[in-house]
Amino acid sequence: MNEKNATHSHWKELNERQPALRVMPMPADLNPAGDVFGGWIMAMVDVAGSIAARRRARSRVVTVAVNSFVFKQPVSVGDLVSFYSTVEKVGRTSITVDVEVYVERNPENLVALKVTEASVTYVALDHHGKKRTIPDD
Ligand SMILES: CC(C)(COP(=O)(O)OP(=O)(O)OC[C@H]1O[C@@H](n2cnc3c(N)ncnc32)[C@H](O)[C@@H]1OP(=O)(O)O)[C@@H](O)C(=O)NCCC(=O)NCCS
Repeated sequence: MNEKNATHSHWKELNERQPALRVMPMPADLNPAGDVFGGWIMAMVDVAGSIAARRRARSRVVTVAVNSFVFKQPVSVGDLVSFYSTVEKVGRTSITVDVEVYVERNPENLVALKVTEASVTYVALDHHGKKRTIPDD
């Protein structure tokens, strides 16, 4: 991708930020209307958020809450979907992560769109599956 071809100002996000996850949905991930099933996006957001949370927690984590989830634009088969995770808040045992989702569509005449934004909270667990205090950064 180059900046000249990008039809949207999201070029910077897509090129300069490191995604937690980048994946291409398959036809099996579509809903009956032909767009990508929202549940597939939710699952990927949960995975992408958990990657940032487990790195910060330095332990396994479990999802305790989805605080918000907004589907701004539909995702189509053939879109390249990137998930960007940012730790927003660290509590005693919990970590709240903001996940932003962008697509790159139509590589010949690139369109870059923000399609979804979510906030998810994870709880750090020890080896026995009990919640644990998150260590200092
Ligand atoms: C996550 C779990 C271990 C938390 O145990 P708990 O004893 O209920 O924990 P607490 O009520 O003390 O809360 C633990 C932390 O989570 C936070 N939390 C709990 N419920 C929350 C909610 N609804 N929204 C945001 N944060 C929440 C608390 O504020 C606390 O954070 P802090 O320690 O940073 O202050 C337990 O609820 C659990 O196992 N849930 C199932 C998780 C799971 O299976 N997830 C996958 C679903 S598919």
